[in-house]
Amino acid sequence: MSLPVNSVSTADLVSAARAWHLRSPNPVFEDPFARVLCGRLLGLALKMPPVEWFLFQVALAHVMPAHLCVVMRARYAEEALERAIAAGVKQYVIIGAGMDSFAFRRPDLLQQIDAYEIDHPVTQRRKLRRIRRARLRVPANHHFVAADLSKVSTVDALAGSPFDMSRRTFMSLLGVAYYLTPDDLAKTARSIARSLPPGTRLVLDYMLDEKSSSSEHLELRRKLLNFVKRRGEPMRGAYSLDRMNALMDGEGLRAVESFPITELGESYRAEFGTLPFEIPGLFGFGTFEVEGRGA
Ligand SMILES: C[S@@+](CC[C@H](N)C(=O)[O-])C[C@H]1O[C@@H](n2cnc3c(N)ncnc32)[C@H](O)[C@@H]1O
Repeated sequence: MSLPVNSVSTADLVSAARAWHLRSPNPVFEDPFARVLCGRLLGLALKMPPVEWFLFQVALAHVMPAHLCVVMRARYAEEALERAIAAGVKQYVIIGAGMDSFAFRRPDLLQQIDAYEIDHPVTQRRKLRRIRRARLRVPANHHFVAADLSKVSTVDALAGSPFDMSRRTFMSLLGVAYYLTPDDLAKTARSIARSLPPGTRLVLDYMLDEKSSSSEHLELRRKLLNFVKRRGEPMRGAYSLDRMNALMDGEGLRAVESFPITELGESYRAEFGTLPFEIPGLFGFGTFEVEGRGA
């Protein structure tokens, strides 16, 4: 898949949504670098309250409830990463990192692990330009790997980096499964399961298929699909929880957790009180683990 060179990509919009979310009284996830990394245009809008208001409350109002998925998946993945590090994992791979600022946000975790972010060359070039412009210092153990995952497997992409294939690894694939065909997602899972040791974990979120989506959010689902299609980044895969679990299982990754976002919403709501929108029941979350060979 060749990503279109949009002046504003979905990775930029997601990053702007993370910046905007910081305005919430009780943010689910805090990314203080999101405003710098989301690009000049959106960054400028976020500095000018009337423009920001227009952008998020008018122009993007029809899709903004979905921004909760963006911050919830980031929080879910990093909590799982913290547990993995506590259990001895030393490598983190962020697949389709977009404008995620892990390299600058989590020096506490980067003291304990090596991190690798893989992204489409178009997105990664853009991000590296922004990092240079903002004069952010990339830690030596945070590595950038450019790869189009529809052409190169995750593992082949990592092969050219200092990544150690023999070590148990934590991987995230956030906001990416949407844009991969089921075949490309299966290939990604297969390359991980075949080449990385048992106990390696992959956290991902994905679009629920229409039947599994909550009926009151089907209109939002339709708007989201149209929105990303118009941006030249059409969604290519939607799944039920069972279908996702079966796809991963077929490639050698066992479901450790698998649930709709609404369940995560309940636990986060207990902690944070009122969230700015109702959680749209349109997304699935899962953690999958490479099984022992011959399991
Ligand atoms: C919506 S962004 C998600 C960014 C971030 N992971 C997050 O959760 O906010 C989607 C990301 O998927 C990447 N992506 C989409 N198709 C890809 C492909 N074929 N190969 C590599 N990356 C891809 C894009 O470059 C972009 O960074």
